[in-house]
Amino acid sequence: MTKAVVILAAGKGTRMQSDLPKVLHPLAGAPMLAHSIFCAQAINAQKTIIVAGHGSDQVTAAAKKYDEDAQIVLQTAQNGTGHAVDQARDALSGFDGDVYVLYGDTPFITPEILDQMAQKRTDGASVVVLGFDVPAPSNYGRLVIKDGALDAIVEAKDATPEQQEIRLCNSGVICAPRDLLFDLISEITNDNASGEYYLTDVVSLARARGLSCAAVECTAQDAMGVNSRRELAIAEAHFQDKARASAMDNGATLLDPKTVWFSYDTHVGRDVVIEQNVVFGPGVTVETDAHIRAFSHIEGAHISQHVVVGPYARLRPGAELADGARVGNFVEIKNAAIGEGAKVNHLSYIGDASIGDAANIGAGTITCNYDGYFKHHTEIGARAFIGSNTMLVAPVRVGDDALTGSGSVITRDVADGDLALARATQANKTGLALKLMSKLKAAKAALKKD
Ligand code: UD1
Ligand code: CA
Repeated sequence: MTKAVVILAAGKGTRMQSDLPKVLHPLAGAPMLAHSIFCAQAINAQKTIIVAGHGSDQVTAAAKKYDEDAQIVLQTAQNGTGHAVDQARDALSGFDGDVYVLYGDTPFITPEILDQMAQKRTDGASVVVLGFDVPAPSNYGRLVIKDGALDAIVEAKDATPEQQEIRLCNSGVICAPRDLLFDLISEITNDNASGEYYLTDVVSLARARGLSCAAVECTAQDAMGVNSRRELAIAEAHFQDKARASAMDNGATLLDPKTVWFSYDTHVGRDVVIEQNVVFGPGVTVETDAHIRAFSHIEGAHISQHVVVGPYARLRPGAELADGARVGNFVEIKNAAIGEGAKVNHLSYIGDASIGDAANIGAGTITCNYDGYFKHHTEIGARAFIGSNTMLVAPVRVGDDALTGSGSVITRDVADGDLALARATQANKTGLALKLMSKLKAAKAALKKD
């Protein structure tokens, strides 16, 4: 069955107390909305429609960043979830398949859960709703089950005391075939406690037609929605716990899991060791047997096998570390390829550069890549030896097997195998230090007398 996903993201999210639309608040390095988009991608949705309202320009830009084929439709007034889905009607005209409704603020719905819902459709249910069980549901819509099947969804505000006792709640995720869904939505009225068009009414409307409906149950954590900054922090913690567990299940050692922070897309291979207090921003791949030492901050980087990073290393976007490379303490690497077995071990900045295989970059080396307007490239050859505290004023190339003397300011290319010395020469003056100091001492004593 072909699938389409409609993601509701028009609400203001007042309780976030933010100028940023709620669905754009980041979770594990990507906006919450993106997590719903990833879920749509994972079930191979043929169309993804995002219903935007508050902050729609920002929401559109973010949606396109994560899925350039996503379609945005506008809901200018937030008249309820049924009205929201109705905005996707035209965008889905001609689509012949099942529509899944997700929320942009409910980031933990997995493709496996949607697959279970698809199974219920295959088994004959016309409308499938995702529910979850909570001991003390307050504001959630309740799933009314009759003779083992879903019979209605009642919003908390409209529920009888008896219905209030029901623990099975509506997550908001719903699935129905396109034509039926929009037919039923046309029948929804706003005759209820909130004066809104409730999407949830499609269940009783389907039942009135004699169609069968079904519920699928997930955990309360899977169904978790984010309405406030506190809930966002809880969601982040939940994401991190899952990411840590999955890294370990896939063969990585985390010395202190609680102190390692992943992004939504971090890839960690087998036999990788991650020490304490390591933060992964988006876009990181760590291959087999690499070792990330404590207090490293890594984003947009590719770390190959057997590489050692840190402690206290910073890898920024475009850092590409080949097999067995070493990047040590207080080293920053940005947009630079570090060759196989090359070493940048101490206190360096390597930006917009390529470092050849087995090169050794001495302590305190800086690529001077920026002239205030443009960035320039530095190339270091294979097996080159860069002396400590070398300034490499880009654009510049130091050849294979070349050497720079420590403290050099390299402004011109160095050919393969050459030695470059570019520093002031030292002159030692006999006894001058003592003379200078006694002069200063006398001057200070004279000042005190006055
Ligand atoms: C909704 C469900 C409720 C369920 C709960 C789960 C209805 C009528 N109620 O209630 O059964 O238990 O979610 O969290 O569906 N939105 C729009 N446009 C609108 C209204 C909402 O885009 O006009 C979006 C919101 O931004 C939000 C989502 O839809 O992401 C849910 O809306 P919300 O107002 O939070 O619904 P609830 O009242 O919580
Ligand atoms: Ca809500």
